[in-house]
Amino acid sequence: MPQALSPVASKLTARDRSHLIHPWAEFDTFPSEPLLPIVRAEGAYLYDVDGRRYLDAVGGMWCNNIGAGRADMADAIAEQVRTLSFSNIFVDMTHPAAVELAEKVTSLAPTGLEHVFFSTCGSTAVDTAFRLIQFYQNCRGRTEKKHIIARHESYHGSTYAAQSIAGKAADRIPEFDFIPDLVHHVSAPYDYRRPAGMEGLSERGFVDALVREFEQAIEAAGGPGRVAAFFAEPIMGAGGVIVPPRDYLRRMFEVCRANDILFVADEVVTGFGRVGHWFASEDLYGVQPDLLTTAKGITSGYVPLGATLVSDRVYETISEPGHGRILTTGFTYSAHPVAAAAALENIAILARERLLENAREVGAYFERQLATLLDLPIVGNVRGCRMMQCVEFVRDRETRELFPEEVRIGKVAVSYEDITVNVGPYGRPPGGFLDGEERETNFVFEETTTVEELVEALRTIGLETGMIIHIIKAIDRAGSLYGTLIVQ
Ligand SMILES: Cc1ncc(COP(=O)(O)O)c(C=O)c1O
Repeated sequence: MPQALSPVASKLTARDRSHLIHPWAEFDTFPSEPLLPIVRAEGAYLYDVDGRRYLDAVGGMWCNNIGAGRADMADAIAEQVRTLSFSNIFVDMTHPAAVELAEKVTSLAPTGLEHVFFSTCGSTAVDTAFRLIQFYQNCRGRTEKKHIIARHESYHGSTYAAQSIAGKAADRIPEFDFIPDLVHHVSAPYDYRRPAGMEGLSERGFVDALVREFEQAIEAAGGPGRVAAFFAEPIMGAGGVIVPPRDYLRRMFEVCRANDILFVADEVVTGFGRVGHWFASEDLYGVQPDLLTTAKGITSGYVPLGATLVSDRVYETISEPGHGRILTTGFTYSAHPVAAAAALENIAILARERLLENAREVGAYFERQLATLLDLPIVGNVRGCRMMQCVEFVRDRETRELFPEEVRIGKVAVSYEDITVNVGPYGRPPGGFLDGEERETNFVFEETTTVEELVEALRTIGLETGMIIHIIKAIDRAGSLYGTLIVQ
């Protein structure tokens, strides 16, 4: 039997439904499916309104890299609120936290990214990159050079521009409009599900084919004279933790350089430690982006903040004196002092506690252990990089057929002894969370008879060893579970 909601949870749920609109709300099921009211977090654990404890399966939302509820963060934030709770940096204003953070972030960034524009989140960081690219091309008199190439299955955020650049098929629904004409998508470097015609190729052949497709897309958009920028997450996150084949990113970067196309690395997820480096582009892939967007781990989610880093080359062009130019873009909360203070303390913690090194060490172990899930008949593919891992579930390993959407394979909660692992930011599975006797009857894998195997495998990864697991984010439509571990 599903667990009954307590009176407190029921009341909160009813009030929520009356007024609150949820991101990615599924309107058909929203009125009837239970919500999960979380009221407290500490370290890697979340606590619901009824006092149940959950491992934070998603690291917040890929954003918590240092653990929740830290006193050092609370102190730094409180101190900034007492000293300067708000001041803007429009035109000729500034404040010390903004300056210090700009110095810090650019010092950690890939080569050449010496300038930074702060915004409020990943979406506004991407939106800002999009606008800066237009500004840059117009400054150069390249007014025709405006087309953007991105990848299918990419996610870049939720503003109009960011969602238009993003290529996740499931998000391109007919009820929303997207920027027409200007944005084009090429295949993701998705080795497990290669695009038609690329299946049998060697890894090198696969990369060659992807690069060829990119070159063809440039031509189809009107040639290099019309293509402004290429957007890429170094490791694709929301599209299913797609780790590119060796050399792919560098080869795409070389095409960009050869064709005067800006390379934009979207490091909203991969920045600040999740993959064991401050940023992935240069350290993991040898790429020096022209622009880089980041957010999430920059404050570990304590306070919202986004950043768009810009290369010297781009900055020199847009800021060239003598043209009477004004950069008419920005947000009231650009470089918000409290967000800047939170970011500075978060970065100090990541360094002080050697969490990047830790992510590399624990990540290697996590990768090995997660690979053991391949024994399970419903696991088609396990992939990822350090604290960014994904288990892709399939109904049939031979054909790689996904489970039908009704199974909601990703919207699963696993209960093991007194710990519930919350697998998905979207709330409870239809049957409610599982506990003891109820596990068998409610578990959505029931028909696969692999429940215990899966629980056992998860246990060996760390539930019993006490290793902190931030596993698993679900994507229902892609039939994937993501695993992310907190970096601690
Ligand atoms: C790669 C990437 N870019 C941009 C975004 C948007 O960030 P936000 O949700 O903070 O606006 C996300 C969010 O998950 C992301 O994964």
